[in-house]
Amino acid sequence: CGIVGYVGSRQAKTVLLGMMLRLEYRGYDSCGLATVETGVNLVKAATRVQDLADRGMEMPGTYGIGHTRWASVGTVTQENAHPFMACDQAVVIAHNGNIKNFAELKKRLENSGHQFSSQTDSEVIAHLTEEYYQGDLVDALGKAVKELDGPFAVIALHPDNRRLVAAVNGCPIVIGLGEGENWLASDVPALLEYTGRVFHLEDGDIAAVEADSVKIYAKGRLVSRANQTIGWAPEAVARAGYQHLMLKEIHEQPRIIRNIIQRKQSAWLPGDSFGETTCGVLLIGCGSSYHACLAGKILIERLSGIQANAELATELFDVTGSTRRYRAVIGLSQSGETADTCAALDRQRQAGFYTVAVSNVPGSRITRLAEQTILTDAGPEMSVAATKSFTAQLVTLLNMGLALPLKEPKRALDLTGELRALPARLQRILDREDAHASAARWLASFKNIICIGRGIFLPIALECALKLKEITYIHAEGCAAGELKHGTLALLSPVTPVIAFMGTDETRAQMLTAIREVKARGVPVLAIAPEGEEDLEDLADRVILLPRTDPLLQPVLAAAAAQMLAYHAALSLNLPIDNPRNLAKSVTVE
Ligand code: G6P
Repeated sequence: CGIVGYVGSRQAKTVLLGMMLRLEYRGYDSCGLATVETGVNLVKAATRVQDLADRGMEMPGTYGIGHTRWASVGTVTQENAHPFMACDQAVVIAHNGNIKNFAELKKRLENSGHQFSSQTDSEVIAHLTEEYYQGDLVDALGKAVKELDGPFAVIALHPDNRRLVAAVNGCPIVIGLGEGENWLASDVPALLEYTGRVFHLEDGDIAAVEADSVKIYAKGRLVSRANQTIGWAPEAVARAGYQHLMLKEIHEQPRIIRNIIQRKQSAWLPGDSFGETTCGVLLIGCGSSYHACLAGKILIERLSGIQANAELATELFDVTGSTRRYRAVIGLSQSGETADTCAALDRQRQAGFYTVAVSNVPGSRITRLAEQTILTDAGPEMSVAATKSFTAQLVTLLNMGLALPLKEPKRALDLTGELRALPARLQRILDREDAHASAARWLASFKNIICIGRGIFLPIALECALKLKEITYIHAEGCAAGELKHGTLALLSPVTPVIAFMGTDETRAQMLTAIREVKARGVPVLAIAPEGEEDLEDLADRVILLPRTDPLLQPVLAAAAAQMLAYHAALSLNLPIDNPRNLAKSVTVE
């Protein structure tokens, strides 16, 4: 979910709706907002934010809060949309998180006369705050959140005071600072139109935000938090003439990658404090970031010889029982807010491992909990499906590999020229929109697709399948090419095609074998291969040739091709590309 707040002199309704639109990638099942002039004006609906804005409702007031929902507890209905207002004291709240003990709290509150209007966990916060409210919202919300079990970010208001009160534990709130006005939001893109001067609340903080002041309380004491200036331009979150944000973000890749390769990565891995028993580094992440971890494992091992493992952050439970001793645990997260990744990295940190965050968002949760941060600098990514952040992660991990003592020092030199040529090669792929669109229209006619790759192309096959699932809703699976014959081959048929990612390294011959095995069974194949593989045209039904580069960089080009295919397939199916159903870009609940 995305939550927002504004207090100042502008009309809060317009500000809040604009901010909510910018946070729709966090959820858009339903939405709502409350503003205050003399009393509270509250509107909510099971619609997209734009539909609510188009109603043109009268909602005067210069402070208020808003919410855009990704349903977790309670179905998608108007009643379950936020904000929630407790009846007697007019406490209004918007919540992001997951209150595990809400059923007990609700029962207790109902027994003492509170009437609930929704099935959500969030509504208990409004009633609990009301229960404690005696004219001081900071005190009341502070007492209420002490009773909550589970992660939350809450913004509350009361018509008695021109003040917004926020509390966080495990979910983000960033405060944007202005002159005579201030903003609160779940994420930075909502603020960029107004201010670049921001800071994140820490867990346990209670913030009292008025037009002219921001006070932060931690454990009941007034504290200060350092501001940071976000260098992202407001235009960075707009479509800039592209039909979709995803397409714009795909097209930003050459520039982003040019910037990353110009940056020299300094030493990041601490000395081997575990001596002989060390097991190298562990990379963890979810979704696309996990696929980057899988590629990062290979990049780091090939370049440095340091052993690397990759694990899904959602499946990393064993810390203390582990016999493995990592020199560093690297958490990858575009948003820096994914609860599963942050929690897993935090457990590793508490178990004594050195932690490194690789994130796209400066100041995000993961950067605050890790000992060291490496930013991917891809700029704000707004479309739910990760594109530019994924290739930025790949190149950042390559840079991190190059910053380690290399197995073959000469390798760095070979890569320098190839890296320099990478943005132009990427551009050549993006310029071939027609070739991708035509293959994508063909793909869009199937119900099931299997993506295959080997070695460093397996993460790309997995990522291609994820992109297809996310935005085309076609059932797609990534499969190690060598594993086809151990099961997945049974699924293939003339109506279940294969997308084959050809490598330029030692996996090439085996990939050819896999494609032959598939073709022998009458299965349609789209091969994505580097130039020089023209012979594939005799074997595969369709071939997309990509510029050829170093085997460690070829996956970046293949990833861009996969993104273009998924984008154009979704376009031909007329789907809501930037906001696919049921998905949120940053998932702040475990
Ligand atoms: C969500 C998004 C995915 C993303 C994943 C991890 O599920 O829909 O696109 O890859 O979270 O996000 P992160 O911000 O941690 O990279």
